Amino acid sequence: MGDSPEIVIRKLAAGDIPATARVLADAFADNPAYAWMHPRASTRERDLRAFFERNLRWHLPLDLTWVATRDGEIVGTSTLEPPGGVPSSTRAAVTHWLVPTVRHQGVRTFLRTAAAGREFGERYRALVGGARYYHVHAVAVAPSCQGRGVGSKLVAATLDACERLLARDPAPVVLSTQRERNLPLYQRAGFALREDHRMGVRRRSPGYRSWFMVREARPR
Ligand SMILES: CC(C)(COP(=O)(O)OP(=O)(O)OC[C@H]1O[C@@H](n2cnc3c(N)ncnc32)[C@H](O)[C@@H]1OP(=O)(O)O)[C@@H](O)C(=O)NCCC(=O)NCCS
Repeated sequence: MGDSPEIVIRKLAAGDIPATARVLADAFADNPAYAWMHPRASTRERDLRAFFERNLRWHLPLDLTWVATRDGEIVGTSTLEPPGGVPSSTRAAVTHWLVPTVRHQGVRTFLRTAAAGREFGERYRALVGGARYYHVHAVAVAPSCQGRGVGSKLVAATLDACERLLARDPAPVVLSTQRERNLPLYQRAGFALREDHRMGVRRRSPGYRSWFMVREARPR
């Protein structure tokens, strides 16, 4: 694993969204949580891209999404969600999420993504004893660039920004992953493994395994 001197980390701009969504959809193509949320296998690739475009646009006003570029091409991304997520009205959520998801990906995908959002939210709140928390999510590197330090740089940039926010607003930072292989990446960044839990269990679904990690608020 080598250093990647040509990698530049910067904030996401609106014009980066389609390319960044492609990186996310490729990196998460075999992720069991996203497969669970997008149960139509025949259209999953397109559905994932649509989901990630919507998710990136939703988070853009917060200015807490990063991209990694190599020779100007987007090869990775990460997002920090502050406590409470994106401030929005019910009407904005309906317009942004419900209507286009039901129209283009179907009602089952909408119900599954909403259910997963609730289930992960409950789990994170339980992990931090109901406290407010920051959430690192949608960390992804294009499959052809993985294992060369890009993800570590993205996580470091995200946590640098997080540290500045935490100075005014101390809170734990949480994340989850569906790949045990990712644990060392986050352990090196100060996260501790807190639990290994099966999510999405339903009568006809065995669900999928998720590892939950927390980086405790540091006393100042
Ligand atoms: C997880 C991910 C963002 C890491 O980015 P990366 O650039 O590959 O990671 P780095 O090279 O900076 O760091 C290597 C660490 O990443 C993890 N890793 C995950 N997948 C890896 C892969 N395909 N190749 C190498 N390392 C990988 C390991 O923890 C590794 O640590 P180790 O070398 O001690 O085993 C990237 O592999 C990815 O996009 N994976 C698919 C999507 C995903 O799982 N995202 C994370 C959601 S929580």
